[in-house]
Amino acid sequence: MSARIIDGKSIAADLRARVAATVRVLDEQSVRPGLAVVLVGADPASEIYVRSKSRAVMEAGMRAFDHKLPADASEADVLALVRKLNQDADVSGILVQLPLPAQIDPHKVIEAIDPAKDVDGFHPLNAGRLARGLPGLVPCTPLGCVILAKTARPSLAGLNALVIGRSGIVGKPVAQLLLAEDATVTIAHSRTADLPALTRQADLLVAAIGRPNYVKADWIKPGAIVIDVGINRIAGADGKSRVVGDVDAGAAAVAGAITPVPGGVGPMTIACLLANTVRAACAQRGLSAPAL
Ligand code: GUN
Repeated sequence: MSARIIDGKSIAADLRARVAATVRVLDEQSVRPGLAVVLVGADPASEIYVRSKSRAVMEAGMRAFDHKLPADASEADVLALVRKLNQDADVSGILVQLPLPAQIDPHKVIEAIDPAKDVDGFHPLNAGRLARGLPGLVPCTPLGCVILAKTARPSLAGLNALVIGRSGIVGKPVAQLLLAEDATVTIAHSRTADLPALTRQADLLVAAIGRPNYVKADWIKPGAIVIDVGINRIAGADGKSRVVGDVDAGAAAVAGAITPVPGGVGPMTIACLLANTVRAACAQRGLSAPAL
């Protein structure tokens, strides 16, 4: 038996279409959500991400405000820009692309963002709301993971969920979201003893490790839902670079449903960013949360 492939690309396209439809309705009320994206420096991978975020924002009918600062920009420069964007009524959401150059403390920058405009969901206030189970802006990649898992199984209640990775961007928030879905959640990390013993009990596995093909096929519980967050660039046999996940391709023969890399979690991150921008715009105007 082989796993159902969870088609992140088409699920993301559906979400983006729902966002665009909501944006059209808001337009009739003269509300036009806008996302400000701040890029410091010229890291090629970050430039590609930022460009695709801005393109997606415009395709959804929203406004994109791109701000590029030089690689030697000071922390004060970035904080001043964030404060200006906080005050700008046309800006519903602010995303500061990470990583930032070494001279800039990312925590200070994230804490300077108005929590109501924090579409990344990285501000401690939003992280705290998530931990408390209160409504707030939720990080995009974790949100995408849960949406994808729920396409395989609409209720995650009672499932043994294993999250591999404890970062503030993916591991911790995805664990909180799964807890809110009534899963029984374990978080594993680089110091976990006997990881395969844990994965073999997992009905739902979220791999956010950042190591190519780390999780092997014989670690997977037969029929499990596997969400692969990894985006690892490796040299292929032909010498060309290709992108692989954190889960070995052989897992598809054991799992019940699995996300591909590329085309799984990746497209969902941008779709959820668009959804968060619309949510932020509505909340800032006292409108009820759109059903996305
Ligand atoms: N860099 C890599 N992923 C992300 C993300 O989701 N948000 C931001 N701001 N930077 C990133």
